[in-house]
Amino acid sequence: MPYGSRLAAMMTRRVGRECVYTPSARLALYLALRRWCRPGARVLMSPVNDDVILFVVLAAGLRPVQAPVSRWDGNIDPAAVPESTWRGVDAVLTTNLYGIPDRVVELRRRCDALGIPLIEDAAHAIGTHINGQPIGTFGTAAAFSLSKHVAAMAGGFLAVDDARTRRELELLRDDLLTPRRLHADLATTLRPLARSAVRTLHLVRPVWRTLQRLNLLERDDFRMALHAPRLAGSARRAPSLAAYEPWVRVDLHGFRSRHGALVRGQLELRMALLDGDLARRRAGVQMLSDTTWATPALRERTAHDGPPPLFRVPLLVHDRDTLLERLVDHGVVTGYVYDPPLDDYAGAEFVEPSPDPSAARWFAAHTLPADPLLARRITDALTRERVPPAHPPRVTRTAEPDTTTTPPAPLGQ
Ligand SMILES: Cc1ncc(COP(=O)(O)O)c(C=O)c1O
Repeated sequence: MPYGSRLAAMMTRRVGRECVYTPSARLALYLALRRWCRPGARVLMSPVNDDVILFVVLAAGLRPVQAPVSRWDGNIDPAAVPESTWRGVDAVLTTNLYGIPDRVVELRRRCDALGIPLIEDAAHAIGTHINGQPIGTFGTAAAFSLSKHVAAMAGGFLAVDDARTRRELELLRDDLLTPRRLHADLATTLRPLARSAVRTLHLVRPVWRTLQRLNLLERDDFRMALHAPRLAGSARRAPSLAAYEPWVRVDLHGFRSRHGALVRGQLELRMALLDGDLARRRAGVQMLSDTTWATPALRERTAHDGPPPLFRVPLLVHDRDTLLERLVDHGVVTGYVYDPPLDDYAGAEFVEPSPDPSAARWFAAHTLPADPLLARRITDALTRERVPPAHPPRVTRTAEPDTTTTPPAPLGQ
């Protein structure tokens, strides 16, 4: 039996595709990029993304090409990508940021016309559908993360079309896995339990402040330190996961560990609870999308199709950075802030900058990624803090209306 095949079978039942189990979504993405892109290939992606994913793309020996994005959701805006850029890319990588779907039908059409692969990052989007079709079933391959929706802090999948490709990827994965260590497995099993205990005991604020004071957090800022000279040195060894490990492992050091039965057993239990988790997320999204900080696009979608089970709800707020600090006093620690956009963060040496970075900058600077499982607490905190909502500036470079981006994809359930 291939490693992780029971978990893979559970995922196959959910999405109806052949699945390879991986210890993380980042490893799943690395496998997909290595399998479908030759070294040196150019990958179109949104700059509003986790920096870890930028380093996964670099580790695979690829050139990240930053796309213009929608001001409403931070995902690639296919209509704003210049034709010259389309002609020069070899693959497209989606984000499905916070669970809001990419314009994946349009992207698929483009990729098919160009004969290039569409790789779906569905790490935030287990449970997201477009007109009833799950995200993760539109592309050549799709990566999922169990760390996100069921708070497992381990586990991922790569979904592909056929059993032959799956077997090929299982071999590639096995070559990349590092041997299991019992104490690491114990830590992986206990960490999510410790985290929920901290929440249940209302200890979020003191624990977070202590971690900050003791310098125990891996990021001083929203982005990890780039270490440009070292990164340039690693480029000479790409493609190589080992060469980029110091960047790729941030927030999840076991991202390529061959976890044993203890971790995988816990993941099976957590996966069995996934539908309950998604239902609670829908309830939280309903509450947050009724607030003044929700985007009109989300409000409309929720009214029309019911609330989607988002990983985070992107609320648009003024003076976001000050607010994040104040939220800690309300017991809310906010992660998954992707500011500045990747091209501003890494520069032209490491990425191809977006031809129009304005929407990404605005979205990255004003978004509060609100956990729908904490909807009540966040709504109360924002109300008490009298937080003004933010509205994207009107676009002046064309005569088009304010919603100049390609309209958001419908979120049918
Ligand atoms: C958009 C996105 N994709 C992929 C990943 C990687 O997921 P994992 O932590 O399971 O490797 C992350 C991690 O936060 C992410 O935010």
